[in-house]
Amino acid sequence: MSESIIFKDRSKLSPRYIPTELPHREGEINRIRDVFKESYTNPEKFPLSIIQLIGPAGLGKTSSVLKASKIIAEEFANHGHSLNVAYVNLKLQGGNKYGIYRFLLEKFAPDLPSQGLSAEEMLRYLLHHLHLKKKYGLIVLDEIDYLIKTTKDTGIIYDLTRLNEFEPDNSCDVKGVIFIARSKEFHGKLDQAEISTLGRFPMEFFPYTLEQVTDILVKRCSEAFNDMAIGSDMIDEIAKMTIMPHNHSDIRFALDLLLYSGNLAESQATDRITLDQIREVYGRIRTSMTPEDFNDLSMNQTYTLLALVRTLRMKKRHYAELKEIRLSSLELMQEYKLKKLDIEDHLHDLHTRKIIEVNSLRDIGIPSQSLEELESMIQRKVKLTRQH
Ligand SMILES: Nc1ncnc2c1ncn2[C@@H]1O[C@H](COP(=O)(O)OP(=O)(O)O)[C@@H](O)[C@H]1O
Ligand SMILES: [Mg+2]
Repeated sequence: MSESIIFKDRSKLSPRYIPTELPHREGEINRIRDVFKESYTNPEKFPLSIIQLIGPAGLGKTSSVLKASKIIAEEFANHGHSLNVAYVNLKLQGGNKYGIYRFLLEKFAPDLPSQGLSAEEMLRYLLHHLHLKKKYGLIVLDEIDYLIKTTKDTGIIYDLTRLNEFEPDNSCDVKGVIFIARSKEFHGKLDQAEISTLGRFPMEFFPYTLEQVTDILVKRCSEAFNDMAIGSDMIDEIAKMTIMPHNHSDIRFALDLLLYSGNLAESQATDRITLDQIREVYGRIRTSMTPEDFNDLSMNQTYTLLALVRTLRMKKRHYAELKEIRLSSLELMQEYKLKKLDIEDHLHDLHTRKIIEVNSLRDIGIPSQSLEELESMIQRKVKLTRQH
């Protein structure tokens, strides 16, 4: 097998890989662990605990819960008990309530037949089996909002938050049910009783800051890339792209950007990832300008775009400041003998057309293809119009 110049281990960028360390989520992991901290010594007496986690995509919710559950299961083992964790991603797995309960039953009681059982029977069997085997269970239902939004099956929340009422004479050996959702919007489809059993105070995951994203990416990159393949300046650029409002610190987005940029660097046989490669991939990930969009631009808008492209290329950054673009537009006016160019108005139009991104006056960028390509496109257009 030929070795890659770029990658040490590209699977370390896969969303399926859960790193051993989850920097900046220690607090969240500990909060989940804390809920169960009194369960280890006498699990039988410990009540069924419901946790609800809310936060947008890519903020480490799933990873944190899986990590915390693993530690909780280890704590059970250390105290001489056995805890099984059943994790279901309702978006990936799909299906309805029956499919989900069957999955849970098969996970906790692989030797029990699940055919022909009603939904309620499956849960009863599940609880009975745990009790018989003196085992405990922890259920994680990921992307619950997806299920609730796409089906009318809200009954699953009702059932699982009341597992302790199924066999009043026995202790409920499912010790926890953790629901994960992107936002609280799905509460709109639940009734008051369901909302109250879910708990009114979900644990919220907030977006990572720039420093946190950088820190996380530096660690992931050191596992995935060869030492020289990605500079810290490139990681900084990706981190900045990641915290932009529409990317809301989604680490999955950043890891994709890293993976595809690495692949592109390999196919272009450069020995390190370049900013242009990152930009090209970014343009593909985020929808970029179509040829029609480009042709529709007025000449003044086109010149303004050129001023921005040149600034970005010169500064070798992903964003430019308004005053830098203004400088570059002055040069451009001289070059093309333009009398007037109100770049502020045109930048505003370009932004409305979603061709550029304006996050602040000091953070103006282009989510599009390679700048080199864009510049030659603009130059062609300028040349054509000036011939007439
Ligand atoms: N703090 C972190 N440290 C390292 N990797 C992280 C961190 N947070 C998220 N990731 C990575 O980002 C990706 C998305 O995380 P995930 O837990 O699936 O987020 P969510 O469930 O909130 O959508 C995964 O590949 C995960 O490994
Ligand atoms: Mg997730």
